[in-house]
Amino acid sequence: MTTNTSKKESSNSDFDEAFESVLAQAVGKRRNFAIISHPDAGKTTLTEKLLLYGGAIQQAGAVKARGEQRKVTSDWMELEKQRGISITSTVLQFDYRKTTINLLDTPGHQDFSEDTYRTLSAADNAVMLEDAAKGLEPQTRKLFEVCRMRHIPIFTFINKMDRPGQEPLSLLDEIEAELGLKTWAVNWPIGSGELFRGVIDRRTKEVILFTRTERGLQADEKHLTLDDKELNTFVEQELLDKALEELELLEVAGSEMNRESVHSGELTPVFFGSAMTNFGVRPFLDSFLEMAQRPVARSSREGLVEPTCSDFSGFVFKLQANMDPRHRDRVAFIRICSGRFEKDMTVRHARTGKAIRLSRPQKIFGKDRAVVDYAYPGDVIGLNNPGMFAIGDTLYTGSKVEYEGIPCFSPEIFSWLRNPNPSAFKNFRKGVNELREEGAVQILYDTDQSKRDPILAAVGQLQLEVVQHRLENEYGVTTRLEPMGFQVARWVDGGWSKLEDIGRIFNCKTVEDAWHRPVLLFKNDWNLNQLIEDHPNLGLSSVAPVVSGVEPISL
Ligand code: G4P
Repeated sequence: MTTNTSKKESSNSDFDEAFESVLAQAVGKRRNFAIISHPDAGKTTLTEKLLLYGGAIQQAGAVKARGEQRKVTSDWMELEKQRGISITSTVLQFDYRKTTINLLDTPGHQDFSEDTYRTLSAADNAVMLEDAAKGLEPQTRKLFEVCRMRHIPIFTFINKMDRPGQEPLSLLDEIEAELGLKTWAVNWPIGSGELFRGVIDRRTKEVILFTRTERGLQADEKHLTLDDKELNTFVEQELLDKALEELELLEVAGSEMNRESVHSGELTPVFFGSAMTNFGVRPFLDSFLEMAQRPVARSSREGLVEPTCSDFSGFVFKLQANMDPRHRDRVAFIRICSGRFEKDMTVRHARTGKAIRLSRPQKIFGKDRAVVDYAYPGDVIGLNNPGMFAIGDTLYTGSKVEYEGIPCFSPEIFSWLRNPNPSAFKNFRKGVNELREEGAVQILYDTDQSKRDPILAAVGQLQLEVVQHRLENEYGVTTRLEPMGFQVARWVDGGWSKLEDIGRIFNCKTVEDAWHRPVLLFKNDWNLNQLIEDHPNLGLSSVAPVVSGVEPISL
């Protein structure tokens, strides 16, 4: 790969060497992750506990505020407040044991999972959170698939052990059988629910006794060795014997721990705990930091770019408008991939080739918006976006780098968006185009040019409601949604010519996406499967690759 070497060759002065060492240190101490889970599994609770250990508990983004603390920070967050949901996702940065951790937080509501999919493209690691009573749930499975596409290392935290749950062995079996992911339990529970007594640390063979710690307090952990005489005053022999037998079984029949398999996303370390009672969170955080991947080399069209490459590069993974109604701004969130970001630096925008001075970089993730002077690979910065950035855009200095961008994920609900008031068309058009660019919703078009009203395609109904709400509040247009009754979308591999080759197809509607690609809409999986049976050579994808060099269709 030329990018990295040629960039390195040009940097041989003492200053450059010192800079490279600062950069290598900064990369070495960074860990970045996102949490994937089904609503109610305890993501907010776990996030709060992690922030507590990082000494960073503060009012921030999607972490639900308790009591009065919460400030409404944008108009459409009003909708979140009314519905009691969390839509926005942000980044929480904190330092813990000399490591800088970036937690890429994701929307709590499953209707906004498209946003979560994109956030996962900026993550180097994922924490899969399960409710011990429920095991794998639909949203977790979907998000897991996105992680698998990118081979992200997955760390599993099985939560709510203080409540009756499924057998731990069956929880591991489920992950192995259904996700095809090998497991390695880092600790093993002794009892569950009312009889939950703690966990055995598999590596040190110590028992960490379960104690309930109040909200907001760091846990006071009691560790005992397995032969400690005191142990039987806390743990019934029967429960301990069962846990030890199960551990024995894992040693004989389970997978072996191997860091490479964790980093390639083939094996997940599993932790049992209870976020609410603050049990097992600190040991989890410690082991996670030990095993997690540091910011990794990223694929670009020019080859792999190492994070320690001295030239700056990063990509936009999220755009958000009106985070602060006083400024009516649009913020682009950039994941830094290589080099050092410096305030006021001039970078090149890969898609347009234009030079841009990044003069107002912000950390949106603190209490307030703090100006960022420097940021490193694995970090995320927010830039005011005057309409120049689109999701997936690359910014760089030095020789050209263009990251592969973020694919489109399959939407599940489809609705015509009608504008009943022709005199508002200009605003309607502006709103629809801007919301598409921002990635708030996907827009599809009928192939019949006379029916060019946009089709909104989303993962959840609330995503459509937010679009309508924002069109009204930010663009002053009242719109009407007309549901289309489709539930499944597939892109056609090979595009229009492939579709023409197979001739007439039934029980589906052909539309085009903003990049002129054919998309087939089906009423249900049955119709989709029928088409696959009838045309086994027709390749259909639920994720569409990124398009570059093509101007998207605008209204
Ligand atoms: P989410 O962000 O994944 O949607 O979940 P959240 O943290 O909001 O947790 C969902 C519910 O599960 C909350 O209860 C929370 O207190 C509870 N919970 C989280 N972790 C644990 C745990 O380890 N053990 C037990 N027993 N419960 C847990 P809630 O009643 O909805 O809210 P709240 O009144 O506690 O705030």
